[in-house]
Amino acid sequence: MRSMRKEYRDGGEILIANPQTPLDLLSQWLTDAKDAGVAEVNSMSLATVDSQGKPRNRMVLLKHLEDEEIGFFTNIESDKADEISSCNSVAGTIWWPKMERQVRIEGVASPMDRGMVEEYHQSRPRKSRIAARVSNQSRPLVSREELVRRFEEEEVRFEGEEIPLPDHWGGYLITINRVEYWSGRPSRMHERVVLTKQDGLWSQRRLYP
Ligand SMILES: Cc1cc2nc3c(=O)[nH]c(=O)nc-3n(C[C@H](O)[C@H](O)[C@H](O)COP(=O)(O)O)c2cc1C
Repeated sequence: MRSMRKEYRDGGEILIANPQTPLDLLSQWLTDAKDAGVAEVNSMSLATVDSQGKPRNRMVLLKHLEDEEIGFFTNIESDKADEISSCNSVAGTIWWPKMERQVRIEGVASPMDRGMVEEYHQSRPRKSRIAARVSNQSRPLVSREELVRRFEEEEVRFEGEEIPLPDHWGGYLITINRVEYWSGRPSRMHERVVLTKQDGLWSQRRLYP
């Protein structure tokens, strides 16, 4: 692994026009990655800590971005949900290798309102909605067959009908208080710009790479 070495060409210069709209560049970079054909551009590693202070992370899909807020959908009885209920400070990292760009986000998570969850649920493909209903996410599953059986039963149960939003499916909004943009530049002279919020105002500074 030590011989694995990549010469970063250029993730581009980082210029924050207005730090008071800290997620504008994330929005731009998501568009750039999509335009460049990157798969799952909105996948983000989400870190939480449990009640013992033990960190854990996993991928989620970013499905909401507005002002100083991002959001994702999940099972609100999952491990991550338990962890968020005991400590609502979370962190996310997005890395697009092809773009040579990374974004790190820190903030406070809160449950999404049911209207927003319902709207998203209704927009999902039927099978995804059924899958959301039958998954006791993060709980032990005896066998794959058990999950398939539950899925098939639910398909039959709601044949010809809308798939209702299950109580255990929801989402979280993350109100950000720190965001860091990283861009790979030649000769390891990478760029990092961090934006932080203090007393209601955002400020930016550069960090050594
Ligand atoms: C690319 C990718 C995207 C994912 N997106 C989500 C998501 O948006 N919501 C979700 O609940 N799980 C998502 N998962 C599954 C999670 O990584 C994880 O396995 C699951 O949420 C259970 O995590 P937990 O036990 O820590 O709660 C995704 C996995 C991958 C690989």
